[in-house]
Amino acid sequence: MMDQANKLRQIIDNLKLKEPISEADEKVVQKNKSAKVITVTSGKGGVGKTNITINLAIALSEMGKRVTIMDADLGLGNIDVLLGVVPKYTLVDVIYNNKNIVEILSDGPKNIKFIAGGSGIEDLAKLDNYQIQKFLANISLLDKMSDVILIDTGAGLSDNVMSFVMAADEVVLVATPEPTSITDAYALIKVISKRDVNKTVRLIINRAESVNEASDITNKLSMVTKRFLEVKLQPLGFIPQDNMVIKAVKMQQPFSLSFPKSMASKQIKDISKNLLEIKNNADSGSTTGIKSFVSRFVNILNG
Ligand SMILES: Nc1ncnc2c1ncn2[C@@H]1O[C@H](COP(=O)(O)OP(=O)(O)OP(=O)(O)O)[C@@H](O)[C@H]1O
Ligand SMILES: [Mg+2]
Repeated sequence: MMDQANKLRQIIDNLKLKEPISEADEKVVQKNKSAKVITVTSGKGGVGKTNITINLAIALSEMGKRVTIMDADLGLGNIDVLLGVVPKYTLVDVIYNNKNIVEILSDGPKNIKFIAGGSGIEDLAKLDNYQIQKFLANISLLDKMSDVILIDTGAGLSDNVMSFVMAADEVVLVATPEPTSITDAYALIKVISKRDVNKTVRLIINRAESVNEASDITNKLSMVTKRFLEVKLQPLGFIPQDNMVIKAVKMQQPFSLSFPKSMASKQIKDISKNLLEIKNNADSGSTTGIKSFVSRFVNILNG
């Protein structure tokens, strides 16, 4: 087994290899230096966030992106269960137990890296400046290692989940056709709108019985949002109700690997393409990347 110091050195060496050779290259590298942090959330629980996060990660990875998943479900983490990996350490070990970020990364399928959040993340707000700087320096390695960081949250309007949502570069909201899921989704959009009118919420309808049902719900949610709220709602796509998803969950495998030809897998590919087409909002004045994310997260937690 490669020891951790070696692993870290190798990663740093790899980074060096990719150092720019010309000034033009340098600009490109600088621009792309930070990862895009995408939080996946929902109003109501059990709507498919974890499945969507993992399978989006796989699709993005297959499109050549370096992807890291962070499990921010602080109750019962579920990424590990669905991937069948048992992480030894969590982000909490980086904060308190002197682990570095590389030591706590687990390997998922298709080169995906996985980080377990662990309960205690909210304690970030209690750290002193030195501890925060140390944590930021550590976590900023993720910006160099990943193009996309997907954060899977728990459901609902808790302060914690909202902090992950508000600090993210992009917010993906998952809802199903169930009326309770739709009303809870709207409630979440409303809270986001109150806190930051400049955010754009990207909507995925999951478990739709038909294309029509998905577009119907998307239209309705878009209409009320446009009429009553300031925030923008943008459809990202839909995933059908698909028995292959249920089957794959029972096998503890991502459906897009076990059933790549399923409807759900096809739709996930579409959604990942749409996700990559989103341009960074240069006017928003906010910087992307995990380091900026954590800074905003801590500020939000500090209220
Ligand atoms: N497209 C789909 N077709 C059929 N079943 C689905 C689909 N998406 C999700 N499911 C079912 O819903 C269950 C819950 O999915 P998942 O765990 O991804 O939801 P979640 O939003 O992460 O839940 P939680 O809020 O508890 O974290 C899955 O185990 C699966 O049985
Ligand atoms: Mg989940």
